[in-house]
Amino acid sequence: ASLRDYNTFGLPAVARTLVHIRGDADVRRLLEHPEWGMAPKLVLGGGSNIVLTRDPQAVVLHVAVAGRRLVAETDDAWIVEFGAGERWHDAVAWTLDNGWPGLENMALIPGTVGAAPVQNIGAYGLELADRFHSLDAVDLITGRTVTLDHAACRFGYRDSVFKRDAAEGGLAGKSVITRVRLRLPKPWQPVLGYLDLERRMAETGNHQPDARTVFDWVCAIRRAKLPDPAVIGNAGSFFKNPVVSAEQCHDIIARDPHVVHYVLPDGRFKLAAGWLIDACGWKGKTIGHAGVYEKQALVLVNRGGATGAEVVTLARAIQESVYGRFGIRLEPEPVIL
Ligand code: EPU
Repeated sequence: ASLRDYNTFGLPAVARTLVHIRGDADVRRLLEHPEWGMAPKLVLGGGSNIVLTRDPQAVVLHVAVAGRRLVAETDDAWIVEFGAGERWHDAVAWTLDNGWPGLENMALIPGTVGAAPVQNIGAYGLELADRFHSLDAVDLITGRTVTLDHAACRFGYRDSVFKRDAAEGGLAGKSVITRVRLRLPKPWQPVLGYLDLERRMAETGNHQPDARTVFDWVCAIRRAKLPDPAVIGNAGSFFKNPVVSAEQCHDIIARDPHVVHYVLPDGRFKLAAGWLIDACGWKGKTIGHAGVYEKQALVLVNRGGATGAEVVTLARAIQESVYGRFGIRLEPEPVIL
């Protein structure tokens, strides 16, 4: 089966076996299969965070678990649950439509709800970990459903236990997330500290936006600088924003006073990878059929007909030039297969 429609980059790859998972029982049935049960497995959610450079030999699981419901409402929160196959953006819109705000800063992030905890998605001052309650996952060896709470997921910046392999005490490749519960705190409080949102407040004169307004602002900001994967294949930010020591940051500022940097609570600095790539002249450039997006240098795009190998070649060239100029090694955000 072609995986082109199962990855937002639109990269060509063919799975020998593609299994659609609609519930926990489907995983258990697969594990009992005489041929596929013991075979290596690759879990695909919305395919919004993967670069397929070859045909996977593993059995590919496409997570299509549906469902959305309010699990509980207490004095201080709403708890909502989604099937892992639900589209993240639709989940955000659905909670707002029902009067349960709290996810609006994360509008329009591509991918599924089940993929959201894996890389702890985040945008405009909020990340999944800030709204996470718990999740259910099926163990790919035992077939048992387990529930993981916030601590068990060990969230970090674009990181969680699901991205780390067994050697690092992680669960990568070990389980399939089937349901995710989110906790939306009451009373709702807007998260408006991000520069792009402050700019909207100044422009509109609206300094007390409601959740729907924040949602609309975030959608407009994203549409202005991020490509829609339905139109131009991409996987969002291709590199993580690097963290450097104060000394390293001051060295770079001495040479490039405009470098975009933010101080972290521990005294280190986070640099804007998009700025570093842009400064090396990559914006709008193309290698083969893979390119650097015109409006945001942090996003690599499929110009039509790109292969995973071309995307990786472009990514390496960018890494080398950023390393050559700034001495910083950029780390890819998506999983490269
Ligand atoms: N910049 C440039 N040139 C560029 C791109 C960016 O100079 O080509 C500068 C911008 O002017 C800005 C700074 O770099 O001053 C940071 O850029 P931006 O505010 O667009 O955010 P970002 O750091 O590029 C991060 C996340 C995004 C998230 C936004 C908004 C990472 C790797 N990326 O991007 O997440 O939506 O903040 O919160 O943390 C994703 O993970 O896929 C993603 C899109």
